[in-house]
Amino acid sequence: MIITVGNTKGGTGKSSIAVSLAIGRGGKVLLIDSDRQGTTETVMLVRAQSGRLPFVPCEKICEGKDLRKHVPALKQQFADIVIDAGGRDSSALRAAMGVSDLVLVPFAPRSLDVWALSDMDALVAEVRLYNPSLRALAMLSCADSTGHDNRDAVEALQAYQQLVYLPCPISRRKSVANAVGLGLSVFELKPKDDKAIAELQKLLHSVFTPDLTQKETK
Ligand SMILES: Nc1ncnc2c1ncn2[C@@H]1O[C@H](COP(=O)(O)OP(=O)(O)OP(=O)(O)O)[C@@H](O)[C@H]1O
Ligand SMILES: [Mg+2]
Repeated sequence: MIITVGNTKGGTGKSSIAVSLAIGRGGKVLLIDSDRQGTTETVMLVRAQSGRLPFVPCEKICEGKDLRKHVPALKQQFADIVIDAGGRDSSALRAAMGVSDLVLVPFAPRSLDVWALSDMDALVAEVRLYNPSLRALAMLSCADSTGHDNRDAVEALQAYQQLVYLPCPISRRKSVANAVGLGLSVFELKPKDDKAIAELQKLLHSVFTPDLTQKETK
């Protein structure tokens, strides 16, 4: 499966989720950093230098035309490919969505983040003209542990035609930020954060078990 983790809004946790998914999935996954900023490439370099297994290969491919050219060939070599896209509308984001089975759209439970999803909704509609089988799932990232904001943000998401809510929030936790900063998933971090582990497990299961999410159409 090819998954783009994308949102035209910056700082929504895309790289953290892309890294966590790729490491959590284990072997035969390729991570592609399509953001010139290179966050994911740096994180995976930290991991590679530590010698931690599984080794997760990471390629930096930032041009749309290069993604269109290379991803179909890389698909033959890897069971899954996770593409981390930069936080803006770019040729790389469009190309990544064009070659993907799924675009996963992390958003924070804040009004500005929910309003910004209108750009992603429009972009998904556009990409579906040439990639009609693209699935588009929005998920809460940096979710709150208390209060109503998560629920309010999910309700507001209903306004968008293309984006379906994936009920697998990743909460705002120091353990998530710390793990990714060390080139780890929360599965590998010590001391263990059981709540963070459970959230990532649920996300992995939902994303990589297509039957669960493919039924969710609007
Ligand atoms: N679940 C989380 N809990 C705590 N901190 C988080 C979580 N997810 C992301 N962060 C922090 O939020 C910041 C932005 O995260 P990240 O770089 O993953 O976002 P991004 O969407 O990839 O950003 P950009 O648009 O710049 O590429 C980082 O400091 C990261 O450590
Ligand atoms: Mg990023």
